[in-house]
Amino acid sequence: MTDTNKTTNQQWGGRFSEPVDAFVARFTASVEFDQRMAKQDIQGSVAHGKMLASIGVLTKEELDQIIQGLAEIEDEIARGEFEWSIELEDVHMNIEARLTQKIGITGKKLHTGRSRNDQVATDIRLYLRDEVDFLLEEVTRLQQGILSLAEKEANTIMPGFTHLQTAQPVTFGHHLMAWYEMMQRDYERLVDCRKRINILPLGAAALAGTTYPIDRYMTADLLGFERPTYNSLDSVSDRDFAIEFASTASIIMMHMSRWAEEMVMWASAQFNFIYLPDRFCTGSSIMPQKKNPDVPELVRGKTGRVYGHLMGLLTLMKSQCLAYNKDNQEDKEPLFDTVDTLKGSLRAFADMIPAIESRKDHMYEAARRGFSTATDLADYLVGKGIAFRDAHEVVGKAVGYGVQEGKDLSEMTLEELQSFGSMIQSDVFDVLTLEGSVAARDHIGGTSPAQVLKAVARAKSELQDRLV
Ligand code: ARG
Repeated sequence: MTDTNKTTNQQWGGRFSEPVDAFVARFTASVEFDQRMAKQDIQGSVAHGKMLASIGVLTKEELDQIIQGLAEIEDEIARGEFEWSIELEDVHMNIEARLTQKIGITGKKLHTGRSRNDQVATDIRLYLRDEVDFLLEEVTRLQQGILSLAEKEANTIMPGFTHLQTAQPVTFGHHLMAWYEMMQRDYERLVDCRKRINILPLGAAALAGTTYPIDRYMTADLLGFERPTYNSLDSVSDRDFAIEFASTASIIMMHMSRWAEEMVMWASAQFNFIYLPDRFCTGSSIMPQKKNPDVPELVRGKTGRVYGHLMGLLTLMKSQCLAYNKDNQEDKEPLFDTVDTLKGSLRAFADMIPAIESRKDHMYEAARRGFSTATDLADYLVGKGIAFRDAHEVVGKAVGYGVQEGKDLSEMTLEELQSFGSMIQSDVFDVLTLEGSVAARDHIGGTSPAQVLKAVARAKSELQDRLV
């Protein structure tokens, strides 16, 4: 990166009587981070050039030179040979200056009918669209990972919790399918957010449009955008698509942080519900016995910075008058970090979740403790003609006795149970077993193994449709 005291900018230096202060040049430059959008900047410039040629602003020869020059620049950047300069402020001016250096005066014609204001808005949208497309694939991969584990664990019984207290037995497969459902809504949110990203601002120029007879539908088409934007002032200043993305990203991270918390607890010696393969954990430098669930812990921790970026972007846009303001340059770093963090977290979970092994015996044992079939006993009494509220009372007493005697409901004798309700018969033991309890919840959305397998099948065909 070149950084000298001589900072008169070639692109806009005309009206200035002294060079910009060297610190100010550094302070206002964005090239150190916006060079990440170089590919999209070139893509946008090629489309803009083609459109200008189609309306006669550039000749065919000029267009060819521009396309050739930009292709070479893209290569230089890919090879790491491009010399980025702080004096040239941002990715847009760096590339344009290099083009002019390469092909001469024709390079200067490329900026006809556009401004960096609509250019940068276009670049971010192209960048974010690419990233969203990748994220949609990662979300799908994660959902597939959840499905493969859920299918294996359709019959595995674990305690279901409310208030982190044992509530009712559930199947582990059912619990995992709850995660799947969260991701399904997140996928839909990403698809929806992509629709509002995929609109072309180029042609708005600085803020008011341009006097050239530009064909914005053509540019939109060339870049794969749905259509051009309808208002030039809004085009250059709108960043709500980025805020919407950050909000979607925050919700995804929130979901993953919940699973992370569960995995951290489940992997502890106290729960001992799951085994996380060693490749997703690290040790302690002082305690030789330690195996720490770093991956879920980090995903849980990284959720904070994504929320922070959402708040940062919202605050960045707050009170901004129309149209473009330099404030908007501050949109990129939070956006990039949101993308990076989300990508990393999704990747880590997509790799790790299908590799989780359940400790079925511990899960089962935990579900057996804690009177998790108390509701089943109440439902059984209702079946014998008792009103639910009265049944609730009877079972409450039985549980009280169990606590005192250190016995679960299924461990009591028929006589003991009958002392709370004479209508209780020996068939009560069918409902007091964990297997009976989960199998009985056999309706859509229920926890029975049969329903888990149906949910998995439904989800698989959902993912199948997505791929075609
Ligand atoms: N680097 C600027 C940004 O990120 C590009 C647009 C600058 N436009 C301007 N008129 N200074 O927003």
